[in-house]
Amino acid sequence: MLEQKSLSALVEAAKKLDGGFAKLPALESDAPGMARISEVLNATAERLQDNYPYFHPLYAGQMLKPPHPVARLAYALALWINPNNHALDGGRATSAMEKEAVAAIAAMFGWKNFLGHLCGGGTMANLEALWVARQLHPGKKILASEQAHYTHSRISGVLQSPFETVACDAQACMDVDQLAKRLKQGDVGTVVTTMGTTATGSVDPLPEILALREKHGFRVHADAAYGGYFVLAGNLGEAAARAFARIGEADSIVIDPHKHGLQPYGCGCVLFRDPGVGRLYKHDSPYTYFSSADLHLGEISLECSRPGAAAAALWATQKLLPLEKGGDFARGLERGRKAALTLFEKIQEDSRFAAAFVPELDIVVFVPGAPSASAASMLTRKIFEEAAQRDLHLAVAELPAAFWGKNLGAMKRDRETLTCLRSVLMKPEHLDWVGRIWEQLSGATEAALKI
Ligand SMILES: Cc1ncc(COP(=O)(O)O)c(C=O)c1O
Repeated sequence: MLEQKSLSALVEAAKKLDGGFAKLPALESDAPGMARISEVLNATAERLQDNYPYFHPLYAGQMLKPPHPVARLAYALALWINPNNHALDGGRATSAMEKEAVAAIAAMFGWKNFLGHLCGGGTMANLEALWVARQLHPGKKILASEQAHYTHSRISGVLQSPFETVACDAQACMDVDQLAKRLKQGDVGTVVTTMGTTATGSVDPLPEILALREKHGFRVHADAAYGGYFVLAGNLGEAAARAFARIGEADSIVIDPHKHGLQPYGCGCVLFRDPGVGRLYKHDSPYTYFSSADLHLGEISLECSRPGAAAAALWATQKLLPLEKGGDFARGLERGRKAALTLFEKIQEDSRFAAAFVPELDIVVFVPGAPSASAASMLTRKIFEEAAQRDLHLAVAELPAAFWGKNLGAMKRDRETLTCLRSVLMKPEHLDWVGRIWEQLSGATEAALKI
């Protein structure tokens, strides 16, 4: 079931890598014997069996996508060197690979002159973007929508920046009228625009937010940790396409290669439109940065040690699957989105369910029909469990009932929020499996209704 054919390519590449160090005196390895390694590795495999099958298309729950085989292999290959991309001293080749890979991501947003680098993930990347924003607008408020990732409020706390939320409309996007009203009160330094929310994949109305920036002069940070790669997709709805067409006008962008970019965890990316913000990172380190006058990535990043292996994996993936509209990588995103639309249509046509709104990216949220919001919420949990027993793994979310608008029909609104089912169809294979997913969901719902 787990893809293993590609392992032979790793052995070949390891030999090639070894060739680069052939002139060194021979080194006896003091690693424990193979029999013991094998024993411990098998014990590790046994422990790892205790996981949901994230790699399988029937895993259609949380935002989890398996790394591309080439990413896995390039990461593993780089571990024989274990480079550290903090400084050129620790990771010369992988620092160069990081600069190339990040430049390709920036180019996807139309940026040639920019500042950016990889980091541990979306949270770290957003922290860095907001740390820069705070230095440029000290003491001013950071605003984000109620559906923005929960870490924005926490990050603002860490930075000791005042933070406020802006209400969402019925599609879970930032309500621009509410934003405009708030801006009139002044004191806003930065507006975080979520380009694909975690819960529903909703895209904030960037063009309208940019128009408000003209008037009020705040900074726009685009949190595209999950949604950023959709700038390449050719099958977005009108509003999302309009928003992504303007993403290059944001002041900073966060995108996570470890979400939609087919990378192992530990790969986020932060980009700044103005490379001049590099001055804000200025620091002295008496024990690093001595091997080269070229830019060491640690000079422009908050983190110190970082895995060069992450850069090698990203570089290899982008070499195989360039970030191009109409290319294979973009087609993978389009397939996930089509799968989400297909599932949405099936749900909408079936009287046992109520879908919220048309998915903007590849996330579908829905509830089972029931006499009341409480009953629907309870039934959601039962379906979730019945589905898992059929090897279909969905997710559960708590969302405002307002997102369903009139779709709840006569359901009594005895609570403000609904516990709903959520499915992130982010694997290209989901499109081939959506029929099967629907069958399992149907079966699970029938079973849950009988309990
Ligand atoms: C929009 C958004 N921003 C930030 C994050 C946080 O990213 P990470 O989990 O990589 O720290 C997520 C995670 O799902 C996200 O969806």
